[in-house]
Amino acid sequence: MTAGPEKSAAPGVAEPFGHGKVILLGEHAVVYDQPALAAGISRGLAAAAVSGTGSLTIPAWQLAVNAHDVSSPVARAYAAILTALGAADLDVSVKAELPARAGLGSSAAFAISIARAVARAGGGADDAAVMAAATEAEKVFHGTPSGIDLAAAASGAVGRFERATGWRPIPVLQPMSVCVGLSGRPRDTHAQVAAVRRLRERTPGVRAVIETMGALVTEGERALGRGDIDELGRLFDVAHGLLAALRVSTAELEALVHGAREAGAIGAKLTGAGGGGAVIALAPGHERDVLRRWSEAGFQGFIATIGGGAAMKELAAS
Ligand code: MEV
Repeated sequence: MTAGPEKSAAPGVAEPFGHGKVILLGEHAVVYDQPALAAGISRGLAAAAVSGTGSLTIPAWQLAVNAHDVSSPVARAYAAILTALGAADLDVSVKAELPARAGLGSSAAFAISIARAVARAGGGADDAAVMAAATEAEKVFHGTPSGIDLAAAASGAVGRFERATGWRPIPVLQPMSVCVGLSGRPRDTHAQVAAVRRLRERTPGVRAVIETMGALVTEGERALGRGDIDELGRLFDVAHGLLAALRVSTAELEALVHGAREAGAIGAKLTGAGGGGAVIALAPGHERDVLRRWSEAGFQGFIATIGGGAAMKELAAS
């Protein structure tokens, strides 16, 4: 299979890249029309599409499927993108810098990078059509996604997302380093969202928890705007407690959160759907200590910069 970019790439279609993301505040609550804050990270997925027979390969994930293989969810997601964009069979290869199913938006980055590559190869499609196609792919994986993962994957910047109003880039006084710790247990967004839905239906008090999570987002946005990292750290800790109340934390996520705090983090929380996946920690000046502590406990991690180049570019354009 040829992996190079399509020669007749349409001008105006965004680079066929999808950013990974971390949700800073508001995951799960965003499904119930509360706001959430998310940030794209520079790691992501880059796709290239050429005429072919419908093959899709992601070597870093040891994945090779064909769009006609209905038994594979990944193939069905790819086929959904081809159908939504009215594209003929293409061969797509994807370079992945993100682990799969780690709570870092890998499926949204998958959907955005491939939809952009297919749009380019097929002669062009506007951003709305690319987003609609990527949404069809996300539905295959997650059932009823709020759209926040796709918005962050497409943007790469820091933004506030609400189902009703979509993505709005927000000003960040200065770029921030965030420690990202991987629990090693794959997350299943579909199952976690369904479990929270059941809890909310059975236990009315949970609605107030979800509303409080939304209120933390507004406070977090203000803290970001004035560069108040200490306040953001405190909000991470409160949000993590509320996510644990929704029963989406796990023993590994708790170990990561507590390890980060012991190593000097000013705040730490699970990020994304939970039930596995990842943790984020703010630890100005102690980032290496946090990574070391995680590594000693058997967890991998890395440092991501948020609010950097992509955030500035998007704000300038908005
Ligand atoms: C997953 O990254 C975020 C959730 O809020 C689900 C969603 O918004 O689609 C858990």
